[in-house]
Amino acid sequence: MSEQQFRIIAISGSLRKGSYNTMALKAAQQLAPANIIIEQENISGIPFYNADLHTLAFPDNVERLAARIKAADGVLFVSPEYNYSIPGALKNAIDILSRHPDKPFDNKAVAIMGASISALGTARMQYHLRQVMVYLNAYAVNRPEVMIAAAQHKFDGDGNLLDETAKKLIPQLLTALVELSRKLRSV
Ligand code: FNR
Repeated sequence: MSEQQFRIIAISGSLRKGSYNTMALKAAQQLAPANIIIEQENISGIPFYNADLHTLAFPDNVERLAARIKAADGVLFVSPEYNYSIPGALKNAIDILSRHPDKPFDNKAVAIMGASISALGTARMQYHLRQVMVYLNAYAVNRPEVMIAAAQHKFDGDGNLLDETAKKLIPQLLTALVELSRKLRSV
């Protein structure tokens, strides 16, 4: 019998081209066990949430992302920390998706990782994002925690991840994500 396949939607919390977090997301795609497919979704076109505009109708890109998350086995957030918290673009994307009637995050397994140029490697953002997930009734993997500190030294010129600790932890995080997803679907 062939091994079960899992499909994960991955979102980078950074919109910039040279983002260390987007590099870390690509590393996760490469390091994922063979049965875990990671598909990147870009949030740069998501509009600011405005209840006057978005209570009944959502833009096509929000409809599409909501449907893709709803259908996926899990979500991987790879995000920087801005001012000790979640970058506005990522928080806004989560906010608008949270108002979608299909509730894409409800009972969804999520994993969080991040890269920052400081010493704490996005720890404060990660705990804020975990708190947001509680309200959405999503379930975040507890461990391992993947916090890539001093990110400016952890990738080569082609964007490849050099950090051996992160390279070991990322597949463990992805395996824990699909195990959690399986548990959530079986109850
Ligand atoms: C930062 N940065 C930052 N780093 C950190 O560790 N803690 C923080 O609170 C912040 N705050 C912060 C705010 C804003 C507005 C910016 C633009 C940056 C630095 C951040 O770690 C660094 O810019 C990363 O390179 C951002 O991630 P990407 O874009 O490389 O993925």
